[in-house]
Amino acid sequence: MCGIIACRTPVPALEFLLPGLRRLEYRGYDSAGVAVHTTTGAIARLRAVGRIETLQKRLPGWAGPDLDGVGIGHTRWATHGAVTEQNAHPHNDCSGRISLVHNGIIDNAGELRAELAAAGHVFESVVDSEVIAHLVEDRFDELGDLRAAVRAALTRLRGSWALAVLQGTTGRLVVAAHRSPLVVARGEHGDFAASDPAAITEWVEHLRVLRDGDVVELADEHRWSGLEAPLAAPPAVPCTWSAETVQLGDYRDFMAKEIDQQPQVAARILDELGPGIVDGAVWTGLGLPPLRRIHMLACGTSLHAGQVIAGLLRRVGGIPVTLSVASEVDEEILEADTLTVAISQSGETADVLRAVEGSSAASGSPLLALTNNPHSTLARRADAVLSCSAGPEIAVAATKTFLSQVLTGVGVALSGLVACGRLDTTRARALVTELDALPDRLATAALTANQLLPTLAAELTQASGFLFLARGTGLPYAAEGALKLKELTYRWAQSYPAGELKHGPLALVEAGTPVIVIDDGDPRMPGNLAAVQARGARMISIGGPGCAVPVILPRATAGPPPWGPLETVVPLQVLARTLALALGRDIDKPRNLAKSVTVE
Ligand code: F6R
Repeated sequence: MCGIIACRTPVPALEFLLPGLRRLEYRGYDSAGVAVHTTTGAIARLRAVGRIETLQKRLPGWAGPDLDGVGIGHTRWATHGAVTEQNAHPHNDCSGRISLVHNGIIDNAGELRAELAAAGHVFESVVDSEVIAHLVEDRFDELGDLRAAVRAALTRLRGSWALAVLQGTTGRLVVAAHRSPLVVARGEHGDFAASDPAAITEWVEHLRVLRDGDVVELADEHRWSGLEAPLAAPPAVPCTWSAETVQLGDYRDFMAKEIDQQPQVAARILDELGPGIVDGAVWTGLGLPPLRRIHMLACGTSLHAGQVIAGLLRRVGGIPVTLSVASEVDEEILEADTLTVAISQSGETADVLRAVEGSSAASGSPLLALTNNPHSTLARRADAVLSCSAGPEIAVAATKTFLSQVLTGVGVALSGLVACGRLDTTRARALVTELDALPDRLATAALTANQLLPTLAAELTQASGFLFLARGTGLPYAAEGALKLKELTYRWAQSYPAGELKHGPLALVEAGTPVIVIDDGDPRMPGNLAAVQARGARMISIGGPGCAVPVILPRATAGPPPWGPLETVVPLQVLARTLALALGRDIDKPRNLAKSVTVE
């Protein structure tokens, strides 16, 4: 949600800021802007409402002094204030000598704005971030040093920040972070900072992740400090995302690429976890207490992954599991011996971070983080971290990260059940054998989905609302299918347990209403569906042989596996994408959304 990049290079900064911003655009795409140091010791600020392309088109119009190699850039997902050029970042101080980009929320922005305005500062926007630029100006006037001024300004803030501050007169560049991600790195082209490693992965091999309260000046030496005193830099970690992984290649959009990558992602996760499931080593390696009861927290798609994992723990191991929507976690009362499991692909979701503070920290319950970002704030707060290893996901709608959360969660859950004696190794081995077949099953599901769904989707473009039905282990997948359809097509979609239909939602069904059914062979399903068919619904069943979209291949044992009909998520993703394409939607950047939701 919003993206930041900063660079200090010997060549024109725009050569790095613009490609970096394009890679960050999935974090927010309401407006974008850059501020670049000029050869005359001023700051050139250019901003535009809309996408990076719009900003790029404005650049040739710059008639001021030459731009040099130091600059900052931002792509915005609006939280405070409308989507206007005035509210776009970078924000300047009164004199235009200091320019700043910021991710996060300043909780006490209102009182600071009033204080600064009373002292004569003039604000251009209604954005909380602008307050920081004026605070730095205020402190600079007193201290005469940019780094000291930034540190002093930050001590006045409450909230979260990842920010980069550029000074015109000197070309100095200072970055800082607190409860919002930021990395710095040095490569052969110069120094970089970014809120997401994807932005700079092409130019650096190692990076350092800022800790809460860190301030760093990107100078000949990177000078690290906390708010009060100098600090040692954290260790450099390899930048594991290769440039190729964040490029489209031959695909039309990232969602298509990421759907397609799922069999490979599944194979990689199962290779990594497989051996440690049967002997309980995945679990014991985490160093957590024995599994007794679990409280899971997540939002959106990650919540659906949590539903799959929670169902398996209850079904296979009889473990009591509660699952909370992270934004509503205040309602939960935790028992002793509870392990908190937070699931978040980004590890930066504000609702999850707040829930973790209120739940795990307050109760003393150990925290296990299941995340695709092992450097994230969530990972840093957790007692143990399980990396989902999906690789970078650029499309805003989660696809391969859902799959990876499900498989990693299922792997660690089964391993934990073995370790605490609730699952014998013979059954564990049989389940691992079944898991090992999943990459092929997912690949087959993708083939079938890509063959059948374009025709089916073409019939549905006029439908204003969709019902998704399932029973038992299929329910999280129906919920995920409905969420994907809403996000991508902007059409109403609702999932229900099929048995619940007759208790009210059946009133929605009329001739032609699309009803998508996840049919995993539950014997009660045909009865539920008869009521829908009798009212003339346009039913599309996704399931085993005989279904309209037959993606569940026969299994050796009766009934669904304890993780449910995972293969069905592929046609559900393809349905949402194909219909969105037919409706002319932006597949990778749906309206109003952004990857990684860092506001509550
Ligand atoms: C849907 C989607 C969102 C996220 C949710 C939580 O496609 O991506 O619903 O799942 O915002 O995000 P994370 O997993 O980063 O905590």
